[in-house]
Amino acid sequence: MDLRLTGRAALVTGGASGIGRATVDALTAEGVTVTVLDRAAPPADLPPGVRWHTGDVTDEDAVAAAVRLGGPLDIAVGCAGISGPMGKAAADITREEFSRTVEVNLTGQFLLAKHASAAMPDGGSIVFVASDSAFVAAPGMVAYCASKGGVLMLAKALATDLEPQGVRVNCVAPSIVDTPMSRTDLGLAETGFTGLPFPVHQPEDIAAAVCFLASDLARGVNGTAHVMDFGALARSSFPA
Ligand SMILES: NC(=O)c1ccc[n+]([C@@H]2O[C@H](COP(=O)([O-])OP(=O)(O)OC[C@H]3O[C@@H](n4cnc5c(N)ncnc54)[C@H](O)[C@@H]3O)[C@@H](O)[C@H]2O)c1
Repeated sequence: MDLRLTGRAALVTGGASGIGRATVDALTAEGVTVTVLDRAAPPADLPPGVRWHTGDVTDEDAVAAAVRLGGPLDIAVGCAGISGPMGKAAADITREEFSRTVEVNLTGQFLLAKHASAAMPDGGSIVFVASDSAFVAAPGMVAYCASKGGVLMLAKALATDLEPQGVRVNCVAPSIVDTPMSRTDLGLAETGFTGLPFPVHQPEDIAAAVCFLASDLARGVNGTAHVMDFGALARSSFPA
């Protein structure tokens, strides 16, 4: 399928690792000129032509600088995110831990959309990497779930506001993806996911969905979430 993305310009946050890195590779392979904002330095094996701004998504000046570096833009993808305090009961989560999780995962997406949309004179597409944690909770993930639920509603509100400007805003909402983040959270840094009794996405699976939502083939898709959870949300609690 030809996504007709050749010649477009994209800004990707969190492009140094995991889903963000796969998105950088996928967009570049589609002929998109990619700029990355990440707090990490650029990896040595980055595809040629990728521009890089090292900075934090919670720093509005850094977001604005990355947009200036990559703009004018057609596409913005918010992949930067953190797990926050995992496995902690609410009573043990500090205010600072909660706030920082929301700052990176939600405020960072807002700042990206604010500055990127202003640099989309011909309209465009913004894709946030949310999570199935925007829909369902697991124990010990209070701050993360709250932040990702916020991302989903942020996408709906922005889609409504930016529709007259021709800018679409959507989310992808995956369940577990094999990345450094999930391996660390689950204590699988050494072993990986092989042999575990639940399905796991590869980062490339999520990047492919991002590319579709970024393209004009998804022109009718706005203000919604592309859930990738192997059907879990569809299942009844009835034990049949
Ligand atoms: N891995 C999963 O199972 C999974 C599932 C659903 C959603 N997600 C979401 O996907 C996104 C990417 O996660 P991943 O698994 O690829 O993680 P990852 O840790 O492999 O990559 C995250 C990237 O974001 C960057 N980053 C983190 N905080 C930043 C900040 N404040 N400013 C700038 N850059 C920052 C990191 O340097 C890193 O390059 C996150 O938003 C995460 O919540 C992950």
